[in-house]
Order: sequence, then C-alpha cells, then structure tokens
Amino acid sequence: MGISIRIHIHLILWTIWSSWVALGATASKFECFQSRPDICAPILNITLYEHNHVTPGYLFITPYDMTTCNDGPYVYNHIGELVWYGAVGKEFVHNLYPCHIAGKDKLCMLKMRHGEGITSSGPVILFDLGLYTPDGERDFTEINVGMEPDMHELRIVNNGTAIITTWLATRSWDLTSVGGPPNGYLRTAGFQEIDVQTQTVTFMWDPVDHIEIEASQMELGRKWGDGIRPETDWDYFHINSVDKTRNGDYLISSRHTSTIYMISGQNGTVVETRRIQIRFHI
Ligand SMILES: *[C@@H]1O[C@H](CO)[C@@H](O)[C@H](O)[C@H]1NC(C)=O
Ligand SMILES: *[C@@H]1O[C@H](CO)[C@@H](O)[C@H](O)[C@H]1NC(C)=O
Ligand SMILES: *[C@@H]1O[C@H](CO)[C@@H](O)[C@H](O)[C@H]1NC(C)=O
Repeated sequence: MGISIRIHIHLILWTIWSSWVALGATASKFECFQSRPDICAPILNITLYEHNHVTPGYLFITPYDMTTCNDGPYVYNHIGELVWYGAVGKEFVHNLYPCHIAGKDKLCMLKMRHGEGITSSGPVILFDLGLYTPDGERDFTEINVGMEPDMHELRIVNNGTAIITTWLATRSWDLTSVGGPPNGYLRTAGFQEIDVQTQTVTFMWDPVDHIEIEASQMELGRKWGDGIRPETDWDYFHINSVDKTRNGDYLISSRHTSTIYMISGQNGTVVETRRIQIRFHI
C-alpha cells in the first residue's frame, strides 16, 4: 500500500482462551485479552500464505453483527496478528482505511448509527495515527456537515477532500413508465464531496437529476421497494462506489442500473457510461 502505519500500542496484550471457546466447534475463531477485557477479536483463518509474495503491510477489516466478537474497526498485520482495536469501542463502522489529510497519515472510517439498519450512518471519523494526544485523549476529527453518509464508500483524495456516497432523499415521482403509481416514491442515493479542513460541502450529485428511472434493472415491488409509500420508496439507482479522477471527474458505479458512469466534475452530467454484466438478484 506504500504507506507506513505508525500505530502505538500502549499496552502489551496477552491472550487468554476463554474456557468455553476451547470446548465448542467455534474453537480458535476469536481471541480475548486479559489486559483489555473489552477486546474479543476474530482470528483470521489464513488458508494460503506465500511469504515471498505477500507485501508487508496491514489489513483493515470492519466486521459487524457478530455474536461472539465485538463489532468494530480492526487492524491486523500481514500474517494475521491483531495490531489495533478499540479506539471507538464496540462501534459499527465501515470503510476503514489509511488516508492522508494535509500531509498527515490518518485512519478514516464511517461510524454507523446503531439500531437503524445498515443504510444509516453517523459521522465520518478521521483518526490521527498517533491515536492519542499527549494528554491521553483520543485524537480524531469528525465530519458532520453535508447529507447523511451511507455505508458504501468513503474516499479521501487531494490531500484532504472526502468523497462519500450519500442517501439524499425520498422524492415524489411519477413511476408509471416502470409500472408503478403516478404519485410514487423514489429513493435517491448519490454522493457528496467535503473539504475536511473547512468542513464545507463542495459538490453534491443526485442521480435523479441525470439518470432516467427506466435505466434501472431492479423491478418494483421486491426488497428494494414498491414505490407506493414513502417507507417503501423504490431504490432505483443504488450507488455502490465513487472515486475522483486526476482531471476532476467522478467515477461511480450503480448496483441497480448495472452501470459504471463517468460524471463531469464541472456540471454533474454523465460524460461516459459502461454497462456491466453483473446483475444482482437479491
Ligand atoms: C480454516 O479454513 C479451513 C478451510 O476453509 C478450514 O478447513 C478450517 O477448519 C478453518 N479453521 C478454523 C479454525 O476455522
Ligand atoms: C498536503 O498538505 C500539506 C499541508 O497543507 C502540504 O504540506 C503538503 O505538501 C501537501 N501534499 C500534497 C501532495 O499536496
Ligand atoms: C459539462 O461539462 C463537460 C466537461 O466536463 C462538458 O463536456 C459538457 O459540455 C458540459 N455540459 C453542459 C450541459 O454544460
């Protein structure tokens, strides 16, 4: 990854196996630490390891809905040993990865809200990689401006600009062209760009303004909404990822139109499209 992660571990952790772990079929699936009883971490089951071909570095995972271990952000080394956990407690996070802001290495993540399903999230958290201030406080910045992030993507580009996929709105929409009601409801999810240092939104993109609903391959009435009521708004587009190109345009993918789009960074219009073959049947 070409990045050196300086993670300071303030405690020497030592492992104990809880007795019931050793008994059951789940043996060796997670480990707990006597020096940090709040930590019970999954053990990575490495089934293929070719030493000479593995680039040294760190693995960033954010498991959730776990029954035996804690949800949260975990960092492992390249041989699968736990290096870091716990700075945000047993939180449900997504998109953990090292990022650069104003020349500093940070750990970025999206912190999700509990109890509202996986489509809703809270602030973006950016940890300084020192993790703690000299006073022992956790050292982090939050982004709280803009629209509510969704779980799919957080990218930091240009030394301090966050691009985040975003749930925008439930909008009233005529859905007759796709077999729905004339006064139906559409769910739209696009993306926004936020300058982290000034906490300002610099770009907001809503697919409804640019992509017709007939492009959707997700028919009405199934898991993704029948469009009849606001609570069952139709998720016609479902953005899955966003990145920014060197010349300032955005590359995005849509799950429900099975398409990759290049979006103009100047005016939000679709500059290029590429249909992809993958179809989702969930
Ligand atoms: C690790 O994965 C292998 C291959 O899937 C499996 O046979 C083995 O039981 C796993 N080990 C543990 C401890 O789960
Ligand atoms: C990133 O920002 C810092 C602080 O403003 C600056 O010193 C550094 O040169 C910048 N790096 C790049 C690659 O622009
Ligand atoms: C939008 O910007 C692109 C360049 O990114 C340009 O080619 C296109 O003509 C512009 N469209 C409009 C409607 O201004």
